[in-house]
Amino acid sequence: EKTSLWGGRFTSGPSSALTELSRSTHFDWRLAPYDLAGSKAHAAVLHRAGLLTDDDLSALLEGIDALTADVASGDFVAHPDDEDVHTALERGLIEKLGPELGGRLRAGRSRNDQVATLFRLYLRDHGRQVAQLVRELVEALAAQAERHLGVAMPGRTHLQHAQPVLLSHHLLAHAWPLVRDLDRLAEWDARVGAESPYGSGALAGSSLGLDPEQVATDLGFTGSTPNSIDGTAARDFVAEFAYITAQVGVDVSRLAEEIILWNTKEFGFVTLDDGYSTGSSIMPQKKNPDVAELARGKAGRLIGNLSGLLATLKALPLAYNRDLQEDKEPVFDSVDTLEVLLPAFTGMIATLTFDTARLEALAPQGFALATDVAEWLVRQGVPFREAHEISGACVQACEERGIDLPDLSDDDFAAISPHLTPDVRSVLTVAGSIASRDARGGTAQARVSDQLGELRRRLTSS
Ligand code: ARG
Repeated sequence: EKTSLWGGRFTSGPSSALTELSRSTHFDWRLAPYDLAGSKAHAAVLHRAGLLTDDDLSALLEGIDALTADVASGDFVAHPDDEDVHTALERGLIEKLGPELGGRLRAGRSRNDQVATLFRLYLRDHGRQVAQLVRELVEALAAQAERHLGVAMPGRTHLQHAQPVLLSHHLLAHAWPLVRDLDRLAEWDARVGAESPYGSGALAGSSLGLDPEQVATDLGFTGSTPNSIDGTAARDFVAEFAYITAQVGVDVSRLAEEIILWNTKEFGFVTLDDGYSTGSSIMPQKKNPDVAELARGKAGRLIGNLSGLLATLKALPLAYNRDLQEDKEPVFDSVDTLEVLLPAFTGMIATLTFDTARLEALAPQGFALATDVAEWLVRQGVPFREAHEISGACVQACEERGIDLPDLSDDDFAAISPHLTPDVRSVLTVAGSIASRDARGGTAQARVSDQLGELRRRLTSS
């Protein structure tokens, strides 16, 4: 009794070495529920085309439901001889319904259009789960931003003190890229959802009068693929998904890196909750930011999954080639990675405590108000080029004497430039500096409040 899908023209079965190489059930089993859903839609379309009687259809649907339950309970598992999840499930159906009825389902479909469809279904499901986890991270950042509205911190460029900003502004700067990732996931979902490949067959389409649009609708797609060759051969939808997950990883890793820095003795900006820190086996005093470090590390892994997949796809001729079986493990890994990483990362962010006094005290240091002096001069009518020079001279005077900008006396200011009247002191405070940056997108508190509202509206609409 041949269990393989292609016994007809072969005199011998596959070598055991080939079977070992070929087998994918150990990783594609997670597609089983989607394969079974696809089989039900396919049975319905065969029935509509007059290829299954009413009785055949109900028997098949019952058999598929029973098999679905057996897969869920673990009563039905892959056999070592099953090449892939599709082969195994066909075997399961034949075992339940007999070869006569169980063997009818393969008409008009190929594992090529099957797997291209199921993989889309799987990724659309998990794309939504990942989106939900990203949303929760954005909410945790927004909650921290709201809690600390009004707290100043040193804003940096080149990792050097640059200008004071609100802590909330900085936290939200990490939230917006994640909001764009949510947009990316939604746009990806719509694009993938518009093209169901079921009905493409092996590559050339179906001759059996099956309606691809019907299957598409049954499986939650908004349309079917216009080209059956493309339908079976394209994997850009996988690469795009891998890119978005890698981008999420990269966005999270940039925040992770800052948490790691902020958690050092030297920065001392944050304290990690015990539930989200680890200790050392030898150094009793240690409290390590492992969640953030793992996030930083896993970004590399997510990027690797994307690059590996693109390397597999590069220069692959049309249509289906078995290379394409290598498309699954990388993105399964990306899904698993984010689904484990994001809840821990969100927990770490939600429970982070900030040393607000230290942030406030450091905000003006490193002559972070020098730009404010220059811009104040511009408002007095001084050309920016000259204003920049004058402010630079103030910084130089302070550096020579080991003091800070507000420590310069009125006479010091006047000696540097007659434009520097005592009024310049109005911008020599962190609060004044922050309040002055009040155009859209700026760090003034009213703008940051608006920004928080805008972010929350984007979240509820996404
Ligand atoms: N398991 C394969 C994959 O994931 C699908 C099978 C197609 N095999 C074939 N010989 N046409 O790509």
